[in-house]
Amino acid sequence: MHNSQNISETRDFIMSQTDYRPTIGLILGSGLGTLADEIVNPYKIPYSEIPHFAKSEAIGHANELIIGELMGKTVVAMKGRFHFYEGFTLDEVTFPVRVMKALGVENLIITNACGAINTSFSPGDLMLITDHINLVGTNPLIGPNNDELGTRFPDVSQVYNLDLRNIASAVAKEQNINLQEGVYAWWSGPAYETPAEIRMIRTLGADAVGMSTVPEAIVAIHGNMKVLGISCLTNMACGILDQPLSHDEVIEVAALARDKFIKLVKETITRM
Ligand code: HPA
Repeated sequence: MHNSQNISETRDFIMSQTDYRPTIGLILGSGLGTLADEIVNPYKIPYSEIPHFAKSEAIGHANELIIGELMGKTVVAMKGRFHFYEGFTLDEVTFPVRVMKALGVENLIITNACGAINTSFSPGDLMLITDHINLVGTNPLIGPNNDELGTRFPDVSQVYNLDLRNIASAVAKEQNINLQEGVYAWWSGPAYETPAEIRMIRTLGADAVGMSTVPEAIVAIHGNMKVLGISCLTNMACGILDQPLSHDEVIEVAALARDKFIKLVKETITRM
């Protein structure tokens, strides 16, 4: 569990660098970081310069915190996130969420690239996350609870906020963006799933599978933030098609979905 003093030190560092006071947070997944380029008058801070932040080396990620204006709102965006599979602890993976909350962020948009398990979905589709399944066997809140940050036993009956989901759905409809909805299963990685594992995960009730998002969402709920989760389905999950998976394909397909993803998120932010 995070230490309040570390969070305050990081918040104070960021507030000493910029006068921006963000109310919306964005965590940008693999291949989706270009949304951060839409931020007007951006103030950028490399993670390596931020006290108490871990350093990420995942391919496809830029590793900068970007603060500025987007659609008239003040936002803070993570271009690149920390993954459990990189060897970071879940405290390291989720620390930026605590910092966002301390900066004044109430609404957090978490995005990712993931594999489609539901066979009515297609690569390149976007998916609104309605709920999640934690398959990793650990939880970012394990350890003594810091009561200043949240309650010991948080309610997770609505992790992905219904009001925010309704806004995103309405935007998608108006903008003619095909927005799927479904349950996201968190897989540790870094190996993709086997065909047998995908059959298991489908049986368990998931529509998509990926290696991020769930720890950040749990910590955001613990911190009483509202969460919106948007996935880019970059591939059919392993074994659905007779072809191997590759990270290059994930990045390529995410880039193809870029324009509609940016449109969806920007217009949703306008109405938040
Ligand atoms: N599985 C897990 N993570 C992923 C996938 C996948 O098929 N595609 C992109 N991230």
